[in-house]
Amino acid sequence: MCENIMLVFTLFMLNFTLLWAHTRSPGVFQLTPPIDHAEGPVWDGRKGLLFYVDIHSGHVLSYEYCNGKTHSISLYGEVSVVIPAKTENLLYLSLNRSLVALQWDGRTTVGKQKILVTVSPQYPSSRFNDGKADKRGRIWLGTMGHENSSGVVPDEGILYKFTKTNYQNPLPVIAPVNISNGLAWNKKNDKFFYIDTPTRKVVSYDYDDLKGEITNKKVVFDVNNQMHITGGPDGMTIDEDDNLWVALYNGGAVIKIDPRTGKLLQVIGIPAQAVTSVAWGGPKLDILFVTTSRFALNAEQRKQQPAAGAIFAITDLGTRGLPSFEADIVDII
Ligand SMILES: *[C@@H]1O[C@H](CO)[C@@H](O)[C@H](O)[C@H]1NC(C)=O
Ligand SMILES: *[C@@H]1O[C@H](CO)[C@@H](O)[C@H](O)[C@H]1NC(C)=O
Ligand SMILES: *[C@@H]1O[C@H](CO)[C@@H](O)[C@H](O)[C@H]1NC(C)=O
Repeated sequence: MCENIMLVFTLFMLNFTLLWAHTRSPGVFQLTPPIDHAEGPVWDGRKGLLFYVDIHSGHVLSYEYCNGKTHSISLYGEVSVVIPAKTENLLYLSLNRSLVALQWDGRTTVGKQKILVTVSPQYPSSRFNDGKADKRGRIWLGTMGHENSSGVVPDEGILYKFTKTNYQNPLPVIAPVNISNGLAWNKKNDKFFYIDTPTRKVVSYDYDDLKGEITNKKVVFDVNNQMHITGGPDGMTIDEDDNLWVALYNGGAVIKIDPRTGKLLQVIGIPAQAVTSVAWGGPKLDILFVTTSRFALNAEQRKQQPAAGAIFAITDLGTRGLPSFEADIVDII
């Protein structure tokens, strides 16, 4: 059976909570020591592992839910996302502007790796950012312009769709974008949600699952119109009630929004300003894992936010996620 250190914390929290109220309120727990720029969390229920990346160091990491151990491997470049494949022990990774297939069991054994394709030759300083597999195993993965202390080179991002048949020449689906982010599908699989971070908006499209096509863009949430939250929407996931959970980069929080009404339903503070992404996981898919960054913090901010760059867990949210989809692009590498 899976014994987790978080259970102990949760029982602690429960005791405290019972003193104050009859319902449990969310608990926020730091799970790992900080790294530079954690991103791209994805729960692999087959392995009981949370995969994530440290973008600028090129590390791909895994967190073992059962014992809190982390493992990591190192690639030569910037790695923004990790997508488990349908094939056992195979992962799809973004490396700079390339999509890479890599054999790793998430714990010890690393096998072969192969660059499948390199995109956006017209924007040589751009790189991949967030991405996910859809229900049919296609990969939706977008790019962003080069980022430094003066900002992001505008309009060099493109959201691409990779399939079994087109992966060597993937289809641009949304262009131009500034920082391709977000990505979630609703339970019925007829809506697609997307974020271009600098716009500060979450948008929806009608989604045709068979063709893998998106149409009819609508803004469902705009951070610019909100009084009590700051920052830019970054990584995103969805729960079984079709509400969206969004990381606020430079907003120090995770928010829950209802894309049908545009309402902000909940704000959960995280002890790190740069919250980068969220993913449901744990044996019951009811823990919201949160990645954060210390990359852009100055020395003073690092002192004030010692946990920035850690992975956090939010518990007792009263809802849960759906299993993430596995990518199915190549059979062997
Ligand atoms: C990724 O980009 C960095 C910086 O330009 C470069 O040093 C590295 O070799 C690249 N990695 C790959 C796999 O192309
Ligand atoms: C940031 O990048 C842009 C475009 O790549 C470059 O023109 C600018 O000089 C860079 N600024 C700094 C502070 O590195
Ligand atoms: C990207 O950012 C630039 C500069 O902020 C802005 O003018 C442009 O409209 C943005 N592009 C998109 C697709 O939002």
